[in-house]
Amino acid sequence: MWEIYRNGHLVMQRKWHRQFGPVVGYYYGLAPVVIVADTELLKQILLRDFHKFSDRPPIISGKFIGGLDDSLLFLKGQRWKQVRAILSPAFTAKKLREISPVMQTSIDDFIENMDKDFENSKECELAALFKAMTLDAIGKAGMGLDLNVQKDYKNSKVLRAISTILSIEVDIFFVAFASLPALAKLLRHAVCQLWYLWLNSFESPIGALQRQSREVVKFRRLNPEKSKRSDLLQLMMDAQVSVESSTDLTSLIAGDGAEAAENRRSGSMAKNRNLPSECPITGKPEGLTDNEVIDNAFLMLLAGFETTSTTLAFLAKMLLRFPEVQERVREELVEATDGGTAFDFERLQRCQYTEAFIQETMRMYTPFFFFTARVANEEVKYGSMTIPKGMNVFSSIEELHYDEAVFPEPNKFRPERFLPENKTPAMAKSWQPFGDGPRNCIGMRFAQMEMKLALAKLLVKYRIYCPDEPKHDARIEVCVLPVLQHPLKHPLKCRLERLS
Ligand code: HEM
Repeated sequence: MWEIYRNGHLVMQRKWHRQFGPVVGYYYGLAPVVIVADTELLKQILLRDFHKFSDRPPIISGKFIGGLDDSLLFLKGQRWKQVRAILSPAFTAKKLREISPVMQTSIDDFIENMDKDFENSKECELAALFKAMTLDAIGKAGMGLDLNVQKDYKNSKVLRAISTILSIEVDIFFVAFASLPALAKLLRHAVCQLWYLWLNSFESPIGALQRQSREVVKFRRLNPEKSKRSDLLQLMMDAQVSVESSTDLTSLIAGDGAEAAENRRSGSMAKNRNLPSECPITGKPEGLTDNEVIDNAFLMLLAGFETTSTTLAFLAKMLLRFPEVQERVREELVEATDGGTAFDFERLQRCQYTEAFIQETMRMYTPFFFFTARVANEEVKYGSMTIPKGMNVFSSIEELHYDEAVFPEPNKFRPERFLPENKTPAMAKSWQPFGDGPRNCIGMRFAQMEMKLALAKLLVKYRIYCPDEPKHDARIEVCVLPVLQHPLKHPLKCRLERLS
């Protein structure tokens, strides 16, 4: 634990894999942990034997924040499966298209802020702008709240408060709690709340946020016609699904699995228009309770805000350091948006170079490096290896992403490697910034849509550059937190050139 505290978790994982190979066991405090960089073993754990590894370990889902008890993050076993089945259809491409207009208003406000910076100084600090934009977008789309963060983002209390939750560094509390679970059980929530309040000058807008979201849900339930919106909150409130214990697990995998299930579902609904889905146990359609809607809405905000803004910051760094990549991405986006006049997500989805650029950046710099984790709920044997019940298994994402056999010259930034003609099946298996299996990132498509729309609106209007950024150098100094890394050791300053 001391080594992790001194050198950072990511550095130690790298060192231990070099020393001991693709599967390494150690103690994280008193918790036994195994980190796995073997794609076959990971497929077995995350996908094929999912029923034996369905929950996330308490050491990373520990109750630091409160207000998430009924969310996907903490739910376990059968109830997690039910809630995931209810929420998954809200994240398919078809549903996300419906919420795209809400998201676009946040991105337009982001561009307006850039316009102001251009008028004032022709310079901007992109990381802060991205943070304000992603919080605004997930607040509106996920919690039904207009947080109004972009108007005065430098002084926004909500923005500061939410940012501090995920930025608690590996400090002495973290080490102590991971080392002494009994102490953690007793004190973690109280100490973290105090610590967090201290960081925020003893003000907590989080409680207020949750209260506001509760009021929105209550108002919408009471006034269904007047308040109908196209946002994630509404989709979560409306979500009704027949939840059988035999639910096909592949239908829960965000991305293609959920898409295929949604297509099957809409096909059968078209045939049985008057038959609502019913739970075989209660005979009633299953949905979420208001508490579950609110807790999950808050989780979306926490899970979707910093991860997306961090990824956008990494993308911007790469655009500044590789100007020819910026030109190529722009060229594609200008064409896909008819010269910046029509921002249709489906057309943006088909931009292969932009997609490859995002995938390569996320390969080299994945924001959540220590979050794809499961706990064994029974003893499992793989050949000569035994994973005992209670063992915490982590996917070593960085190790997979820098595997030379799969990604030749892994330290080189080469978006072309992800173009369809160059992509290999091994790459698809190893690329895991959104995790893998039925418990992968449910918000993956939401994040992809937001990032592509933001890149499109930004790059059709501005060329960004920075003389201080070393050209063609893909090594970015990162700030490593317990589960997250971001590139904000230094501000993300850049100059703006307005395009005609
Ligand atoms: C670039 C942005 C994002 C990245 C890199 C990211 C990454 C991840 C990762 C690695 C996981 C763990 C997956 C696993 O254990 O296999 C995860 C889980 C999750 N993410 Fe994301 N995420 C992003 C954006 C979002 C957004 C926008 C939302 C919501 C709108 C979201 C909601 C969630 C939720 C609810 C979970 C827990 C899923 C479950 O346990 O069933 N994420 N994310």
